[in-house]
Amino acid sequence: MLEKFQKIRGFQDIYGENAKKYRYIVETFRKTFLDYNFQEIILPYVEDISLFKRSVGEATDIVQKEMYIFTDKGGREVALRPEGTAGCVRAYIEEKMYAEGGYHKLFYEGAMFRYERPQAGRYRQFHQIGAEIFGVSSYLADVELISMVYKILKYLKIDFRLEINTLGDFQSRKEYISKLIEYLKKYENSLCQDCRRRIHENPLRVLDCKVESCKEITKDAPKITESLSKEAIERFEKIKESLKAIGVDFIENPRLVRGLDYYTHTVFEFISQEIGSQGTIAAGGRYDNLAEQLGGPPTPALGFAAGIERLILLVKDLPPEKPLIVIIPLNQNYYIQALKLSEKTREKHIQTELLLKEGSLKSMLKTANKFNAKYVIFVSDKLELKDMTSGDQEIFINEEDLIDVLLSKL
Ligand code: HAM
Repeated sequence: MLEKFQKIRGFQDIYGENAKKYRYIVETFRKTFLDYNFQEIILPYVEDISLFKRSVGEATDIVQKEMYIFTDKGGREVALRPEGTAGCVRAYIEEKMYAEGGYHKLFYEGAMFRYERPQAGRYRQFHQIGAEIFGVSSYLADVELISMVYKILKYLKIDFRLEINTLGDFQSRKEYISKLIEYLKKYENSLCQDCRRRIHENPLRVLDCKVESCKEITKDAPKITESLSKEAIERFEKIKESLKAIGVDFIENPRLVRGLDYYTHTVFEFISQEIGSQGTIAAGGRYDNLAEQLGGPPTPALGFAAGIERLILLVKDLPPEKPLIVIIPLNQNYYIQALKLSEKTREKHIQTELLLKEGSLKSMLKTANKFNAKYVIFVSDKLELKDMTSGDQEIFINEEDLIDVLLSKL
């Protein structure tokens, strides 16, 4: 017996209805990105491992435990990208986009890889669609980006809540972190194992730990809002005001910190209640210091990414598909005629299946039904058009006449 292969744990085949949903989701994002004048960037799947260490952060779960890393044949230490922002910033700097002046709005899509514990809505290979804006410090960009994602999720008819927070500028964030560490140290022994490590490596992450005892302790922890500079508070107020003014509903969550180190100021998450614990469907924020940290010029920036697999779980209705016609040659003598006809209907952009499998009339009709044919054309000495819903039949001698009638019906 030959060995049967299985997909690797945490990886998925996306096919059938889910593949249609995938394309529909991506198309909906892309169309809206273009409405907002974002340009596409197609990024590598593999990057230097230190790019992620320097951006996502040495102490984050992603870098500590979740990256797919290997040494390539040239001895380079590389990683399958766990997210898209780092590569996008690397490209922005490396391709010297900043030298063109103005500012840049980019979007990308594709597979990301994280060695996480797989569960519903969490996979080791998953797909993100995201966008980044480089070179804009105005809060207007934060509002526009959040509003765009909000709109796309509405177009997809998904129920969600939007949570927002601010981490302040680099200095406010630093001051806050020392206050937080001081507080957490008092409860060190009651925190979960992970959080005990996080106090020293990534204390902000303790705030969104899901373990009950940790949640209880952090309830009374100092809040980031208490450490914000006047400018950071004003900035956040303006964002909230503007979101309200354009009808974007949100909840302020002072505990929202995100799992990647590069954020400053605004952070946000779009969360669904319907898909269990992995409910964050899109998330992002500002990262004004990242370009500089990666050796580029100081560049205020912000962005977001949505998880396509999670959206697939939530999208219920697909837009109606084009009707299908199935062409059935009654026997092999009519193959050439049927081939020619099917080429012609396709040139007219009529979605056509030429029945490729011979069988009894009954079995061929059964196959046509399985394809969900709206019309069937039997090819013999004549052309017979059958409406699969009403059962009505019409006979044609001439291909052109048949195609004209079909076009008028579809
Ligand atoms: P993130 O929160 O790590 O942010 O991921 C964004 C989204 O990707 C999540 O909200 C979720 O929908 C999806 N996602 C993440 N991990 C998985 C997984 N293992 N399985 C399925 N879906 C997953 C980022 O990646 C940032 N780069 C977002 C960003 C862009 N911030 C600024 N610009």
